[in-house]
Amino acid sequence: MNNPKEKKEKKEKKEKKEKKEKKEKVAILFVCLGNICRSPAAEGVMRRLVEREGRTEEFVIDSAGILDYHRGELPDARMRSHAARRGLQLTHRSRPVTTNDFLEFDLILGMDDRNLDDLHRLSPSLETSAKIHRMTDYCRRHPEADHVPDPYYGGAQGFELVLDLLEDACQGLLEALG
Ligand code: 4NP
Repeated sequence: MNNPKEKKEKKEKKEKKEKKEKKEKVAILFVCLGNICRSPAAEGVMRRLVEREGRTEEFVIDSAGILDYHRGELPDARMRSHAARRGLQLTHRSRPVTTNDFLEFDLILGMDDRNLDDLHRLSPSLETSAKIHRMTDYCRRHPEADHVPDPYYGGAQGFELVLDLLEDACQGLLEALG
């Protein structure tokens, strides 16, 4: 019954089913430079938003960084602390963007010009480049914002601004997705 051929076929069938299920979801990847401040915060904000709307099953939500310097690390302690004040627990572990991400995700959102340039440079095709968008394009309450500023070398205000912009943009994104 459980000979190697049947086992292989069963495994392939399971993988196909999982892939199909995943395909039906909208897969969103948030990207920043280090994947320890802005993009894991965006991931946390978006997760909470879709959860509150009872739409968790409709999305795959993840984040990644251009650099792999912080690989495996939790978000920056300052980012976690500011997020926690808004009731958000950030538990993502930093990882770099991979070529596969461009194939697996439907929407890839960069935080600033540098992220967008790097994403376009890493994108394997024109088709995958079309998935890359600017996070602040989804802001509604902050129409003046054209990027989510890197808070890493700044103070508390920078982290608060990041969360304000991300909450606004995630709301706009969810509305845009319908
Ligand atoms: P993030 O912030 O891109 O929002 O995660 C940064 C984190 C780390 C570094 C730069 C930005 N870094 O140079 O290590």
